[in-house]
Amino acid sequence: MKKNALLLILLIAFVSCKKETTEAFGKNDSEIVETVKPNDLGEQIFNGKGMCYSCHKPNQKVIGPSVAEIAKIYKEKGASITDFLTEKSKPIVDPSQYSVMKTNFAITKNLPKEELAALESYMLSFAK
Ligand code: HEC
Repeated sequence: MKKNALLLILLIAFVSCKKETTEAFGKNDSEIVETVKPNDLGEQIFNGKGMCYSCHKPNQKVIGPSVAEIAKIYKEKGASITDFLTEKSKPIVDPSQYSVMKTNFAITKNLPKEELAALESYMLSFAK
């Protein structure tokens, strides 16, 4: 019994120290990545009312491109995610799937500026 408790404590300590290597923890990174980053608000929206997580995973393409891919392209081009989410700019990541993403503008266009900025900075933090 005691041994198990000790093991558990060690495991928790280990997990909480392992901020950097999120990939090692597999699919559930949404819970791990953000505790470390200063972009908590963006993360909350991404995983909460924005529902973005249902189509965008950190490092893996599912229905939408991975957040890392989006971040990389937006950083390279110096483009604005906020503009995209308010329909002020055109898709640059995967225009062929734009119609799928467009359905979300009903949500994103009604977000206050600071929440859009938080979302943008959260997403850009995934660029390597
Ligand atoms: C129903 C699935 C779905 C949901 C939910 C979703 N997306 Fe997307 N998203 C996509 C698809 C598919 C693409 C690829 C098409 C494109 O590039 O426009 C995309 C592309 C993007 C892009 C890249 C746009 C570009 O320039 O090409 C950004 C940024 C983005 N999504 C942000 C978000 C955010 C923020 C949310 C939550 C508010 C969200 N998405 C929710 C499916 C989704």
